[in-house]
Amino acid sequence: MSLLSGRSTAPAVPTPPSALGPEVVSPAAISPEDLRRQVTQVLGEQGGGLARVVAEFDAALASPNPFLNDLVQHASRFRGKMLRPMLLLLAAEATGGQRPMHPRLAAVVEMVHVATLVHDDVLDEADVRRHVATLNSRWNNEAAVLFGDYLFTQAFRLAATTGSADVCVQIGEVCANVCGGELTQNRHRGNLDLDEATYLQIVEGKTAELTALACTLGAGEAGASDDVVAAFDTYGRKLGIAFQIADDLLDLHGVPGEVGKTLGSDVQKQKLTLPLIRLLATAAPAVREIVQQLLSHPNEATATALRSYLAASDAGQYTRRRAGDFVREAKEALAIVPASPARELLEQIADFAIARRR
Ligand code: IPE
Ligand code: IPE
Ligand code: MG
Ligand code: MG
Repeated sequence: MSLLSGRSTAPAVPTPPSALGPEVVSPAAISPEDLRRQVTQVLGEQGGGLARVVAEFDAALASPNPFLNDLVQHASRFRGKMLRPMLLLLAAEATGGQRPMHPRLAAVVEMVHVATLVHDDVLDEADVRRHVATLNSRWNNEAAVLFGDYLFTQAFRLAATTGSADVCVQIGEVCANVCGGELTQNRHRGNLDLDEATYLQIVEGKTAELTALACTLGAGEAGASDDVVAAFDTYGRKLGIAFQIADDLLDLHGVPGEVGKTLGSDVQKQKLTLPLIRLLATAAPAVREIVQQLLSHPNEATATALRSYLAASDAGQYTRRRAGDFVREAKEALAIVPASPARELLEQIADFAIARRR
């Protein structure tokens, strides 16, 4: 039998219903909406809060060019979880308190995040994002690339209005590191020998750099001491890594209607993620060969075939354990921050990063 027909040799194990098994997803796993309600309560909306972030975001993007405005409308109608603005404002609240510049910085970080998503959907040829058509699918790749550029440039312009060259340098450096992470990932497409250390390096660049920046800008602009800002860097970085590991599990095992974005693109684009790295590292030689063959020639049936091999291995447990390690380290970093409702919520967000189903 051909190695390519791996499906017929796969053990008959049912596909897991969700990214994260009951060991991690407690029945009390908080929804993004409930999380946002709690954040709003802790932040208070007067003089700051997430509503100000949305207002700053929308005002910065408005354009007199009707075509550009169509794209802006499309991108602004559907908000994501607003995780990075939440982190920034809570880091401020947990340290010196929110100041007028915080919502603007949070809008800058969210704009950079949305820019990376718009470009990422081109790279992944994704059709759905935040439950609606991606810009590349609704318009085309060219429009999406140019609109991503518009988002980046407006983010830099908005950052400059803070008058802080230091803040602009930090944002510029992080954007460069995010690009570096995405480029390294691209460079390793199809590399079936990708190891965990290189995977984590990619994840740290493409995702954790920005979550760490959100936290350090929040604390730094609130006047926190250097050691507290460093603690927030560690918290944001570890949380970002855990968040991306969970995202990579969702890409393999998530429920598309629930997650609200195109899934399966990591396998289709031959980007190896932790579950598959673990499977390849631990499988018997015959299974490894089948899995390698499946990954070398991805098609619509590949994910289903891979899921049965994954389920018959410890890859899921191992990946969840590693994500849990990063969540624990993130929470430990907050120990030097005085206890407060904002710190408690940051700890809860670390748990949410991996318990989430979308
Ligand atoms: C998606 O980020 C990209 C990753 C880093 C995994 P989010 O899951 O935070 O996306 P939105 O903003 O909620 O849509
Ligand atoms: C890319 O990772 C996230 C960025 C930092 C751009 P993914 O490709 O996993 O993000 P999703 O799953 O499309 O949101
Ligand atoms: Mg993607
Ligand atoms: Mg993903």
